[in-house]
Order: sequence, then structure tokens, then C-alpha cells
Amino acid sequence: MGVVEDISRAADRLAEADAVSLISHIDADGITSFSIINQALAREGIPVTPVFIRQLEPMTIPHIPKDDTLKVFTDLGSGQQGLLEEAEIRPEDVVILDHHISQKAPNGTEYFEVNSQFYGEEYQKCSAAGVAYLVARRMNAANTDLAKLAVVGNVGDMMARETCRLTGIAHWIAEDAEAHGHLKMMQGLNCYGLSTRALHLSLSNCDDPTIPGISGKPAKAIELLCRIGIYDTPSASRTFEELDAEEVQRLSSTVAEQMIANGESVERLFAEQYFFLDEAEKTPLRNASEYATMLNACGRWAKPYIGAAVCAGDRGVHYREAEHMLRHHRSIIRELCEYILETGVKRLGTIQTINIGNRYPDTIAGIGAGMALSKLNTNKPILVLCEVEDEPDFLKVSMRTYEKVLRRGVNLQEALCSAAAEFGGSGGGHNIAAGAYIPKGCEDDFCRRVNELIQAQLDAGPANR
Ligand code: C5P
Ligand code: C5P
Repeated sequence: MGVVEDISRAADRLAEADAVSLISHIDADGITSFSIINQALAREGIPVTPVFIRQLEPMTIPHIPKDDTLKVFTDLGSGQQGLLEEAEIRPEDVVILDHHISQKAPNGTEYFEVNSQFYGEEYQKCSAAGVAYLVARRMNAANTDLAKLAVVGNVGDMMARETCRLTGIAHWIAEDAEAHGHLKMMQGLNCYGLSTRALHLSLSNCDDPTIPGISGKPAKAIELLCRIGIYDTPSASRTFEELDAEEVQRLSSTVAEQMIANGESVERLFAEQYFFLDEAEKTPLRNASEYATMLNACGRWAKPYIGAAVCAGDRGVHYREAEHMLRHHRSIIRELCEYILETGVKRLGTIQTINIGNRYPDTIAGIGAGMALSKLNTNKPILVLCEVEDEPDFLKVSMRTYEKVLRRGVNLQEALCSAAAEFGGSGGGHNIAAGAYIPKGCEDDFCRRVNELIQAQLDAGPANR
């Protein structure tokens, strides 16, 4: 069916439910999709049982209530329909709102999914929170205040990364939020921390693109900001958001000139930024990418409900706890990234691998992999292995790559799903970011197999895909 029919059907099924079990993923996109549907249902007076899980896998299936509630899966489910079938969950009790690559149930049970990957180019870069928002908006036009959360989910799942802005339906959702006065879009530098970080740190931390003479060199960034009058002393500390339009212009042209003088392209220097005017200035909730990090900091450290409380408007006790989680998350992610870079990755033909053992939780391995990859050979996907605390017989695998590698024919989701199945594990995700669980002991053979599969994808090339 078409997208409009699917969204209407999902909205009707939710609105008609007597009670809902809402099962969602623990990352920023999962927490925002959860919050959108949770609030939309609450406004209809429909009771919700919340269930957050790190992934749908055999160990977490028992968390799904065995009752006659409607089971709504957000940001997961599409890739694990086989598990739902195995658990004998009835299709009439299921609605999946997702954007992961769909894997149908092997024995033919047909679950109803609204999956952004089904509806062509316009929907391709739309995360689960975007899908959830379209359903919520269809349920009740008053739900437009939730568009802001969909922007956070989309940005958190890197939907704006390749093009330096949201595109297609995800951009339309941002426009919807703007039209209702919740959001302001502006062209800014393609750096992180525009609301909370001192500008010299935002600039010197920038690695996409690398700014010659500035990236990795905070003292040089301070020098530049003093030279152009944005800092009045070297000890000054202003955020990007505090600059006026003329100052943004002055800074942008100086950095652009510096890149051009060094023969670098300025193509990725600027990105559309999404600011929330109803949030306090200089807080992580003020822009979409920092908001998403705060939610990841809660969810990936086993406190998704704190993130959901922030999404629902809590700016008191839960918000303070989220701030604390954010500080902790940032420092451990930095440490993990340094650990990967200092230990070094193993080169294995087409990929680079590292086993981080039990040093860091499996829920942040993928984020660390993505960050470390930006400082490694970006032409080769990274594969990180780690232990899973409550599953001693399994290892978690996280892979990340870049669009330029996808354009050569690589698809991480396909490679991980095939390799994991061969070794008695299971995987899923996206072509650019995927994960799997595999039995302990097979990891060396598994990595070799992933390398072979990726080599085969490269040999087949993009034309055959
Ligand atoms: O889809 P899922 O939410 O579970 O993705 C987890 C991670 O995958 C995100 O945090 C993001 O880093 C990465 N991702 C990506 N590009 C995409 C989709 C996901 O880098 N297109
Ligand atoms: O955990 P990580 O962030 O590396 O996951 C990357 C992507 O792979 C996410 O979209 C996640 O939902 C998916 N994944 C999966 N099955 C797994 C592990 C991860 O579908 N067993």
C-alpha cells in the first residue's frame, strides 16, 4: 500500500486500541519515537505499558507483555519479524513503525509495518521518529507540537549527515515544527555543540570537514577568534548561538577562506542547524543534535525513562539527572574513542576490526566505532566486537562506514546478517550502520567471513545493486 494509506491505517489502529504496549529502542530515535506515540496515545486517553529494550533478540522477547494489548514497536521490529513469529505474537496485535531494513518472518506471518524504506526517495532519510510523527499527526492535528521530537530523532540517527541538512519528508517535518513556532532553522557551521560549547572547542573538534590549522588545535582556534574580534580576550568563551548574524558571517567567511587557501573544499563546512526557541539558551536541549546526545546518554546507559521524561517536558529532577548522564556519557565515549585509537585496529582486507572485550558496555560500542572511524581510514568499514554483560555466550558486533563506501557497493546490514546467520547469530540495521550478536568463540572466523562478503560486494560494485 502507499504511504498515506499505511499511515492512516496505523493511526486508526492506534486510536482504536483499548490499551497499548509500546516497545521501543534505547537510543535517541527510539526515545523520541516512543515519546511521540506515548503522548499521542495519552491525549486520546489510551493507557500505555512502556517497554524499552536495547534490541529485539531472543533474550529480550520475554519483555513483550503476553496479553491482548496492541503491541506497537517503534525503531525496531522490522528486522526481527522472525522472532515475533517464533514467539507466536499475532499479526492482528502488532503495528511496527520503523526505518530499519525489513526482514520478513520466514513462515509467512505478515506483520503490518510502516517503514520509511518502503516509500521511495522522499522517505529514505526519515528515521522511526519521523514515521511516528506522521502517524501521531494523522491521529490528531493538535500533535504538531511533537514535530520537534521527530527532528531530534532524525538528527540523532544521522539523517542529516550526508547532505548537511534533513531532506525529503524529514525536512518537511522540520518545516512543520517551524510553522508552529517550535523551531528555527538556520545555516551554521557543521560543528557540534553550537549551544553549549565554547566556540573555539566546537571549531577545534570539527572533523567533518577537517579545518586546516584549527581541527585538533584549540589554541589556534582561540587565536583566530581573537584576530577577527569574536573573542575579545584569549580567555573569552562564547557559543556559536551567541553570535549575531554579522559575526556568523565574519566567522564563516574567515574559516571558508582558510580552507580555500589550503586547497580544501568548503562543501561540508556549513550545515542546516535546528534550534528550539522554546528551550533555555546554552542548554543541550536548545538544538537537535545536542538534544539527541542527551537522550542517547540516558538510553544507552539504561535510563531511557529519564530521556522520555525530558521529551515529555520535565525540566526538574529528571532533567538534572539527564544532565548528569550526559556528562558521564561524553567522558566515557571520549575514553572509548581514545582506547580504540591507542590500541589500534587490525586491518583485515576490506575492513578494520577491534575487540574491546568487557571494557565498555555494548550499548555504546557503535557510537565509539563511529567516532573512532572518523580518525581512521574512512575508506574501510570498522567492526567493533565487545562482550554483553548479561549474555556471557554471545558477543555484540557493531559496524560503521561512510556514504562514499556505500557508493562502491558496500552494505553492512547485508554482510552482517549473512555472516551472523552462518555462525548461529543474528544481525540487522542499515547499510551504513549495522549490528549483530554472534556466539563467542567464532569471532575470528566471523570477521574473516564479513571481510569476504564485503570484498564480494565491492567486486560486484554499485552497478549490480
Ligand atoms: O537505527 P539505529 O537507531 O538503531 O541506529 C543506531 C546508530 O546508527 C545511530 O546512532 C547512528 O550512529 C547510526 N546510523 C547512521 N546512519 C544512518 C542510520 C543510523 O550513522 N543512516
Ligand atoms: O548497536 P549499534 O548502534 O551498533 O547498531 C547499529 C544498527 O544495527 C542499529 O540500527 C541497530 O538497531 C541495528 N542492530 C540490529 N540487530 C542487532 C544489533 C544492532 O538490527 N543485533
